Amino acid sequence: MNGAIVRNPDHWVDLARDRITLDGKPIATKAGIYILLYKPKGYLTTYRDPDHRPTVYDLVADLGAWLAPVGRLDLDTSGLLLMTNDTTFADHVTSPAHLVSKTYQAKTATLLTEEQLERLRSGIELSDGPTRPAEVRRLRDGAKHTFVEIVLTEGRNRQVRRMIEAAGSRVLKLVRTAIGPIRIGDLAVGKWRRLTEEEIAALGGRARPPETATSRTTAARPAASTRSRAHNNWRWSKS
Ligand code: URA
Repeated sequence: MNGAIVRNPDHWVDLARDRITLDGKPIATKAGIYILLYKPKGYLTTYRDPDHRPTVYDLVADLGAWLAPVGRLDLDTSGLLLMTNDTTFADHVTSPAHLVSKTYQAKTATLLTEEQLERLRSGIELSDGPTRPAEVRRLRDGAKHTFVEIVLTEGRNRQVRRMIEAAGSRVLKLVRTAIGPIRIGDLAVGKWRRLTEEEIAALGGRARPPETATSRTTAARPAASTRSRAHNNWRWSKS
């Protein structure tokens, strides 16, 4: 490092300033890749499944780097999933300390009363402790179901489902529609796109350098969607 041999594996390096070489050749920092996938219901947020169920990796193209999901969505949850090779960025987005909001829309098995919504808002007791206060908005009521938007700043396992169960109902459908200011917008279900530089900055910024023209020559086209637009049912709030 900077011309000296470093033998301590815990030695910190500053990728912007330190010059690292191996056998005399410089080691380049891999460019950061940041994508947004509209995960369909029925896809696992893991790489491989022993039962051979589809995973999110079946939907994204090979961009020449290993991309890990930023947090998880349950098998039965659809919506916005970020994937990146920038672990600092991923930690920023997922750490509850940074209060990056995650927005969900849920269809519940019963009509929810104002009192139930208020319990969800003010923090509800779960087996792993009370939830933080959340923004909760009734989108509309059907004959038997409530459509509700919930904005969380923490991401515990199956949190929305458990909150709604603790409030006395059940989730029938769950879609994540936004992370911080990044919305899923018009992206079709099963499709992905790269985040813009503004979107990366809005979620804490990149810890890896941008791709150069030559580093983007690998397959950069979105994978073909395997599902139809009919599954894009988070738009229920607009119907
Ligand atoms: N809350 C849930 O219950 N499931 C998800 O997939 C995400 C948040």
